[in-house]
Amino acid sequence: MSTENIHPIFDQIIPREEKEKKLNQNARILWFTGLSGSGKTTLALALEKKLSESGYFTQLLDGDNIRSGINKNLGFSEEDRIENIRRIAEISKLFLNCGIICINCFVSPTIEMRQKAKAIIGEKDFIEIFVNTPLELCEKRDVKGLYAKARQGGISNFTGIQDGYENPLNPDIEVKTENKSIEQCVEELINKLLPIIKK
Ligand code: ADX
Repeated sequence: MSTENIHPIFDQIIPREEKEKKLNQNARILWFTGLSGSGKTTLALALEKKLSESGYFTQLLDGDNIRSGINKNLGFSEEDRIENIRRIAEISKLFLNCGIICINCFVSPTIEMRQKAKAIIGEKDFIEIFVNTPLELCEKRDVKGLYAKARQGGISNFTGIQDGYENPLNPDIEVKTENKSIEQCVEELINKLLPIIKK
């Protein structure tokens, strides 16, 4: 659609810097990517709690939440996943411009999808966090029972089964979750993130 008759007023809104100052933090998008069941949401929830206890102001966006609201008209075809990620990146940017640390948990299975998100959000503000859990372990855990369902043909396009997952080539942070506790993983994350978000 043409934007010919659209006149944005981005430049008139109170600047992000002023809002960050008020919140005493550097806003960023912490983009968790990884297979379904890799632990993205679990780690993100624990991280959010820790950050909040330390005085940081956050928002957490999660695949299943977003897909039950604003993106409930989208499925899991390549095209729909790209649109899912595009909308999420745009939404995250609104939080970013409000000075908020936005914690995102999305499978975002391809390098191209994550690059698109990074292009919308901006290179400096996009922190890619790869939750690296082997497929066999995700499938063994199968918290939501979706791997079993996908194996039986009850779900098509399931990431890791019928569809692929491309590992990030050069993530800002990589968390290998196998044989580690949630606390250990969050500790690792906090140590790497504090220098970035601390004012
Ligand atoms: S993404 O690929 O478009 O980034 P997103 O993170 O929003 O995915 O949603 C993934 C969640 O949807 C999974 O954690 C799982 O609970 C559910 N889901 C349902 N069908 C699929 C599927 N075909 N592939 C992956 N996840 C699915």
